[in-house]
Amino acid sequence: MLVKKKAGCLLAGMMLFPMISYASEPVEPIKPVTNVNLDEVELGKKLYFDPRLSKSGFISCNSCHNLSMGGTDNLKTSIGHNWQQGPINSPTVLNSSLNLAQFWDGRAADLKEQAGGPIANPKEMAFTHMLAVDVLKSIPEYASEFKRVFGSDQIDIDNVTQAIAEFEKTLVTPNSRFDQWLLGDQQAITSYEHEGYQIFKTSGCVACHNGEALGGNSFQKMGLVQPYKTSNSAEGLAGVTGKDADRFKFKVPTLRNVELTYPYFHDGEAETLQEAVDLMAKLQLGRTFSTDENAKVVAFLRTLTGDQPSFVLPQLPPSTSKTPRPEPFDN
Ligand code: HEC
Ligand code: HEC
Repeated sequence: MLVKKKAGCLLAGMMLFPMISYASEPVEPIKPVTNVNLDEVELGKKLYFDPRLSKSGFISCNSCHNLSMGGTDNLKTSIGHNWQQGPINSPTVLNSSLNLAQFWDGRAADLKEQAGGPIANPKEMAFTHMLAVDVLKSIPEYASEFKRVFGSDQIDIDNVTQAIAEFEKTLVTPNSRFDQWLLGDQQAITSYEHEGYQIFKTSGCVACHNGEALGGNSFQKMGLVQPYKTSNSAEGLAGVTGKDADRFKFKVPTLRNVELTYPYFHDGEAETLQEAVDLMAKLQLGRTFSTDENAKVVAFLRTLTGDQPSFVLPQLPPSTSKTPRPEPFDN
């Protein structure tokens, strides 16, 4: 905290109107990523884009967490193996390293544990960890890259998920207009957007959407003041803890890049930000926003779009005669 304050004062000192340092705001700027293992990141990037980790040979992490679309699929619920309808909306992978746990119900402790899930999920990539590892072993370029990165001839699911998780740590989105404002550039957002931020703070949205990610750091009941009606069968945290009190508690989603990550809520039922904000005010705070208040909050939320991941698309090494064949269709 001290360090942040100092930086804020330094910036403020250079400006005409000294401003309050962001340490006093409930939202913090996203920090650019530091401290990652670059070799693991490069390998993890390939694995993230490699559809051969799925039974069909067609579905990669990027299919449902498309890095050209805010790290989501922009579908109500995802499409998995054999065109199966997924049970729940796909959250963004952007800034997911900031989450206190992974999944809507927090059932994976971290990104590494999470990454093993979809590969073996019959409704997602429908593979087995053993087959996924067999695919990688059959491709000499992968074999030598794993050896170089992990220092052993052994390829196992532990290394696979380690590399993917390391890549995911780089998917943070600093430098949004709102962060520029937090860091002292008063021109970075308009007064209209600033009014939206004030409503967001004073009406109580920040009670749950705060910190670097404006979410991701607690589980909260969906429908705190008024019950939420949905036909989706997800139970939330109760499915993990078995406690009745945790029914319908979900990990508060990040609002970073939220203009890109539609549709909204775990069931994907809210198509627009306007709708999501309207429902949040009613269900979580017992408030009805005027059209003007709603528009201002939405305008503020759009300032949260940061620098999207940008890199040269990884080229994947070709399969060999030993590579298990893809099975795109269940006959
Ligand atoms: C078929 C679509 C699909 C594929 C393929 C897929 N995911 Fe997901 N992912 C989802 C859905 C849906 C969820 C939410 C599931 C839940 O919370 O129960 C999710 C959740 C996540 C989360 C948790 C984010 C959060 O905020 O809780 C991360 C991280 C993630 N996936 C990364 C990956 C990685 C890495 C891969 C590749 C190994 C992958 N996903 C493959 C659909 C998919
Ligand atoms: C009591 C905690 C709480 C408060 C207060 C709260 N939210 Fe939320 N917010 C949540 C939870 C939990 C979810 C996820 C609900 C779900 O998916 O079923 C959510 C979801 C959202 C989403 C959808 C994000 C996505 O990716 O699906 C938006 C947008 C949002 N909130 C904005 C707001 C705004 C604006 C306010 C103030 C009017 C607000 N929230 C107040 C807990 C809260």
